[in-house]
Amino acid sequence: MKIANLTLTGPVVLAPMAGVADSAFRLMAVRYGACLVYSELVSSEGLVRDSARTEELLHFSEEERPIGIQLFGSDPAVMAEAARRAEAFQPDLIDLNFGCPVKKVVKHGAGAALLRDLSRLGEIMREVVRAVRIPVTGKIRSGWDEKSVVAVGAARIIEAEGAAAVAVHPRTRGMGYAGRADWAIIRDIKQAVGIPVIGNGDIVAPQDAGRMIDETGCDAVMIGRGAMGRPWIFGQIRRFLGTGEVLPDPSPEERIRICLTHYDLAVRKMGERRALKEMRKHAAAYVKCLPGAAEIRRRLFQLDDFGEVRRLLERVDERTHGDPRFWKHPDP
Ligand SMILES: Cc1cc2nc3c(=O)[nH]c(=O)nc-3n(C[C@H](O)[C@H](O)[C@H](O)COP(=O)(O)O)c2cc1C
Repeated sequence: MKIANLTLTGPVVLAPMAGVADSAFRLMAVRYGACLVYSELVSSEGLVRDSARTEELLHFSEEERPIGIQLFGSDPAVMAEAARRAEAFQPDLIDLNFGCPVKKVVKHGAGAALLRDLSRLGEIMREVVRAVRIPVTGKIRSGWDEKSVVAVGAARIIEAEGAAAVAVHPRTRGMGYAGRADWAIIRDIKQAVGIPVIGNGDIVAPQDAGRMIDETGCDAVMIGRGAMGRPWIFGQIRRFLGTGEVLPDPSPEERIRICLTHYDLAVRKMGERRALKEMRKHAAAYVKCLPGAAEIRRRLFQLDDFGEVRRLLERVDERTHGDPRFWKHPDP
């Protein structure tokens, strides 16, 4: 799989996720086989204003490569300038967000709001492509609402304005994350454009990835929520696509070990205090299927000390150690 001159080692990609896919999580995804990762969405306005907090989102480690920095905004000139500044951090590509449904983004005409103004969307893509040397990609939803499903037209514009690939999450803005992603839209886009198409939406098991590729012909699959607390899913998908084999999920004790490794990475990257806060949602996802998960999650959100969280997780490990009842195998 190639995106312009960038060769990926496989067709399995981590989705950009604000508040989730930070440097530590991306590193976990890469270690388990993700072939491309993205930054959390970055405000073009914030970047151009020199906001230190915005710039923090651009930092990544070499091990995370290939990595795309994702920008959002509604002003073509600001997006172009932000892309130039982002390029100075030497990511492998710039991705433009044309799908974010969040109110504070769409009310400024950015994210999914651009699906209601395709000429501006095209202008943004054109200006950003012109501003940087690295490949530029776009990520879209299917449309604003069910009455305006414009994904195929949007993808054609994205290609015509020079994008190197397009990622598609086929839900409308109105759907948020409810209902089912309509994979037929990914197939329609694949038939309409020549650039690589990255399919996204509702992949939670290796077989889903295989089915999406079979049904749509997409060039790569992108995993978001299905990777939370389950970074090993990238390796499972790669194995399944390569051989048809479905690797079992890790045992509970392995899951705790993986969670603690993730925790240690987060501490190293952001310090104990922030890691404690950021890791709550991740740890809650790692323990989801384990015995007493609800109670563990409650405690995770109460504890205010890294050592105590560590001990809490280690106790889960002791309780489940070697007990085959807590091995969850994927559905056949
Ligand atoms: C917590 C969260 C944060 C997200 N943040 C972003 C983002 O910053 N940029 C983006 O393009 N999509 C974002 N998304 C959407 C995902 O990239 C993806 O398109 C969506 O979750 C559907 O894929 P999935 O079913 O595999 O989760 C986010 C989704 C979630 C759940």
